[in-house]
Amino acid sequence: MSTALFRGSGGRRARSWAWTSLVTATVGALAAAGLVATAGTASAQSTLADAAESQGRYFGTAVASGRLGESDYVATLDREFNSVTAENSMKWESLQPSQGYFDFSAADRIVDHARGQGMAVRGHTLVWHSQLPGWVESLGTNDLRSAMNNHITEVMQHYQGDVDTWDVVNEAFQDGGSGARRDSVFQRRLGDGWIEEAFRTARSVDPNATLCYNDYNTDAWNSAKTQAVYDMVADFVSRGVPIDCVGFQAHFNSGNPVPNNYHETLQNFADLGVDVQITELDIAGSGESQAEQYGGVTQACLAVSRCTGITVWGVTDKYSWRSEDTPLLFDGDYNAKPAYHAVLETLGGSGGGGGGGGGDDTADCTVTYSETDRWGDRFNGQVTVRAGDSAIDSWSTTVTVHPPQKISATWNGDPSWDSSGDVMTMRSHGGLAAGGTTTFGFTVMANGNWTTPTLGSCTAS
Ligand code: XIL
Repeated sequence: MSTALFRGSGGRRARSWAWTSLVTATVGALAAAGLVATAGTASAQSTLADAAESQGRYFGTAVASGRLGESDYVATLDREFNSVTAENSMKWESLQPSQGYFDFSAADRIVDHARGQGMAVRGHTLVWHSQLPGWVESLGTNDLRSAMNNHITEVMQHYQGDVDTWDVVNEAFQDGGSGARRDSVFQRRLGDGWIEEAFRTARSVDPNATLCYNDYNTDAWNSAKTQAVYDMVADFVSRGVPIDCVGFQAHFNSGNPVPNNYHETLQNFADLGVDVQITELDIAGSGESQAEQYGGVTQACLAVSRCTGITVWGVTDKYSWRSEDTPLLFDGDYNAKPAYHAVLETLGGSGGGGGGGGGDDTADCTVTYSETDRWGDRFNGQVTVRAGDSAIDSWSTTVTVHPPQKISATWNGDPSWDSSGDVMTMRSHGGLAAGGTTTFGFTVMANGNWTTPTLGSCTAS
């Protein structure tokens, strides 16, 4: 190995999780016995990580090592997430760019940061046909077998105790209706047994790691690819091939929407006796429709007891691998989007989006407007409401449109109108943490007038 960083035994993480589950179990038992009163003033969790943890899940994100120097990126990462996946730095081409030469430096930066924050790390990915260095492609059967097993061994040993879950094999099945294995160098040279061999090697290197098969387009239960992966996992389980988990990448867009039977797919896999995880979630879109889909995926995971956590594929839209789709939970300025609030609230949290205590006691808030979409006849406006230095219980503000404009739809708030119908008062559904933000939105039928609506001031209590 090229780096010789000191690594702990992993005891820190092991202890913190053991402690967490002990506390959860204890509180659960006491509550069952009627010994714990729910405090009326207890506030809901206001970060994704805390809210997910209160549901016995983790909430993770993909991290790009090159972004760890950006303070807003790191602040959002550290505040909201308790698990990370290296977006690229643990792929074969990054870790072993030429045969026998391992470069762990970028991945180590991610792992050191995450472990320093007490976060878990998902290892992604040991064997994948993509982002695979050219030297692997040119190996013959025996050399490829050794190289695969050696890569798994070196990488897992390096991260033993720090990475608790590995995507051992990624994307080994074809898209479309064939249900066939993907035509990769591994499949061509090693035949059907290569996936099984990779899992057996992984188990022998780190018997404590959770071993996952990870893929995309495996969300709709009836698709041929989903069925093919299911059959493989069922076969592995029945023959005792070591597999612990199936990862669902969950890259959604209008051509590949969140299926409405998603929880059934997750449940059917879980019923095989493996954990399921949503591993690379991103959903193209914006506003309320994106928020609803994010809420639906979160709900699907919560509905399946063996769905142990969700990872989104990046912190902010601006660095997303498909940033033009704005598929993530934070916009380019690290403002929490409606999708963020949908996830947080589905996890039982509230407020959120940033901030955190301190300051004076004056309840105040500010509002800012942006236009998020425009069509030939209408546009969507979005208002970001931000609490001042103190938490607030509620907020309200006004939006005045300019006749003959008419507001035809609203989301994320309780609207009421004056007699003219031109002044909408929007009231919050809930409060905000200090410095926290939320958004509400509305569609304005322009009726020929494209003047920007006028915002009133924000009132907080
Ligand atoms: C993507 C990264 O996000 C990009 O930065 C990179 O250029 C290509 O790979 N399935 C996976 C991920 O398993 O590793 C991919 O990540 C997205 C699709």
